[in-house]
Amino acid sequence: MTKAPPVLDRTTGTGAGTSPISDKAHRLKHHHQRTPSPFSFYSPKLSVYILSTCVLLFILFHIQYSLHTPPSSPSPSWSLTRQWQRVINTSAYCNSSELKSMADLLRRSVTFLPLKDLRYAQAALQGHTWFMSSMYDSHEEGEVQFQQFPSESSQGRLLCMKGRDKHDGSWNSYALAWPETLPLNATFMKGLTFVSYNHYNYDNIWHGLSAMATFDGRQPYVEGFEGVGDDDQPVCFEKSVVMRHNEGGMSRERRMEAYDLMRCKARVYCNVSLEGRLADVNGRGVPVIGITMFMRTGPRSFRNETAVVGIFQRECAKMDGCRLMVAYSHNLSFCEQVKVMSWTDILVSPHGAQLTNMFLMDRNSSVMEFFPKGWLKLAGVGQFVYQWIASWSGMRHQGAWRDPNGDKCPFPEDDRRCMSIFKSGKIGCNETYFGEWARNVLNEVKARKVDELASKKNTTTSSGCTCS
Ligand SMILES: *[C@@H]1O[C@H](CO)[C@@H](O)[C@H](O)[C@H]1NC(C)=O
Ligand SMILES: *[C@@H]1O[C@H](CO)[C@@H](O)[C@H](O)[C@H]1NC(C)=O
Ligand SMILES: *[C@@H]1O[C@H](CO)[C@@H](O)[C@H](O)[C@H]1NC(C)=O
Ligand SMILES: *[C@@H]1O[C@H](CO)[C@@H](O)[C@H](O)[C@H]1NC(C)=O
Ligand SMILES: *[C@@H]1O[C@H](CO)[C@@H](O)[C@H](O)[C@H]1NC(C)=O
Ligand SMILES: *[C@@H]1O[C@H](CO)[C@@H](O)[C@H](O)[C@H]1NC(C)=O
Ligand SMILES: *[C@@H]1O[C@H](CO)[C@@H](O)[C@H](O)[C@H]1NC(C)=O
Ligand SMILES: *[C@@H]1O[C@H](CO)[C@@H](O)[C@H](O)[C@H]1NC(C)=O
Ligand SMILES: *[C@@H]1O[C@H](CO)[C@@H](O)[C@H](O)[C@H]1NC(C)=O
Repeated sequence: MTKAPPVLDRTTGTGAGTSPISDKAHRLKHHHQRTPSPFSFYSPKLSVYILSTCVLLFILFHIQYSLHTPPSSPSPSWSLTRQWQRVINTSAYCNSSELKSMADLLRRSVTFLPLKDLRYAQAALQGHTWFMSSMYDSHEEGEVQFQQFPSESSQGRLLCMKGRDKHDGSWNSYALAWPETLPLNATFMKGLTFVSYNHYNYDNIWHGLSAMATFDGRQPYVEGFEGVGDDDQPVCFEKSVVMRHNEGGMSRERRMEAYDLMRCKARVYCNVSLEGRLADVNGRGVPVIGITMFMRTGPRSFRNETAVVGIFQRECAKMDGCRLMVAYSHNLSFCEQVKVMSWTDILVSPHGAQLTNMFLMDRNSSVMEFFPKGWLKLAGVGQFVYQWIASWSGMRHQGAWRDPNGDKCPFPEDDRRCMSIFKSGKIGCNETYFGEWARNVLNEVKARKVDELASKKNTTTSSGCTCS
């Protein structure tokens, strides 16, 4: 006999006061294998990287459905659902054992497919991806790609998932099922569930954030499937939205809006002034320019930090209104990072995940990036990610300095094997170059701020952020 699916009613609430980011990182951290610098992978190793890490391939945000009503009014899928119920009711009325056993057959015929389809391992990022590979996204021009369940294209079926493997998604599976004939022993999860997939590690602030780009800023609940029963028990979602390409497919404009919204929500969350940097002038009415040197320790740190800081300090001191701060991402809390960035007009930092914070600066702020030796030739296309993020979030990437010197490699320098040496290299210093670069960027920023200040002087509030 079939068993009625238990209904799991979620209460919201992760610990109050934890940031969405740290909460998520916390929940997922111990399931991940450590991977060196998740985002700055280099393409020759990409396939190896993916296969060897096999990180948890999906993350679920479960939102109380009262928060979010689906955009569609009664859709064909819903009427289809109702018709189906009528059949069931009729059958109950007639007490037809035939129809009952038919429903039972339907329950048993729900077919689970691997969540991660290894047939697409060579083209994991392309097209409909290896995640739920039998599904197609709906995509309107300029909007984000997604799938929705139940929907017309799912013929009113819900998304179900099975398996809790946190290392290899091919051991987990998914299926579609009608609400009246959910698979045997399935747990029915009420509300709207956001299913997000990407290839990287959600410990990394950038991947976590880009998955949240579509969010409305409420604290999400990350589903860990605790209390759902054993690993083999399916879970079916009353409503779900699946995103497999993060912000992929979004137009530049929509992306910019998404970043604006995230910046704004982060500042609201952290009680940081929403006023924008333009509001900041010193005693002489000169706009204040904040330079933040965002330092790393270990790989890709500056070999002689004192020397590099000294150069920027010197240039900053020459400019009226300039303030410099040296910060370390590894010991700042989420809100401290939000604060530091809202203070920053020029972010000076080595290539690395901490640069993701750039989108928390006011729009049109500047980024100066530094690379150790060897990266340009060997590090693949991933090394340009912060140029992309700058462009997506409306920042100005002011170029990168690439150290011509560094550790020796026993192979010819364009041999791929050298990357294992160069990837953790330290970054040197060129006093002439850094000084000139800092001056140029400072002058540009100053000129722009003076202009903006002049044109906006008469308006009472400046354009830091408006969460709408
Ligand atoms: C079928 O019966 C259930 C209760 O037995 C009821 O809630 C539901 O509205 C009925 N559906 C239709 C389409 O009549
Ligand atoms: C309905 O069918 C069941 C067997 O499937 C039977 O035990 C029961 O007596 C039937 N009820 C009526 C009202 O016919
Ligand atoms: C459903 O659960 C029962 C009891 O826990 C178990 O005996 C049965 O094998 C399960 N059925 C399926 C299809 O997993
Ligand atoms: C922001 O301010 C509110 C009200 O003053 C306070 O309850 C909240 O804890 C603050 N949030 C943070 C992250 O400091
Ligand atoms: C680092 O640079 C400073 C200033 O240029 C210099 O005084 C110091 O000797 C350097 N330290 C090392 C370890 O090279
Ligand atoms: C943060 O880390 C840096 C470098 O490890 C250290 O110099 C600094 O004192 C630390 N700051 C705090 C507040 O712990
Ligand atoms: C950013 O700079 C562009 C070009 O100078 C300007 O048109 C735009 O208004 C600026 N945006 C903001 C938010 O200051
Ligand atoms: C430092 O930069 C200057 C100007 O960009 C360049 O001419 C010089 O060769 C560089 N010095 C070293 C040691 O690379
Ligand atoms: C600002 O106000 C002054 C007078 O109060 C006026 O002369 C000037 O044109 C205004 N500037 C702008 C950009 O509106």
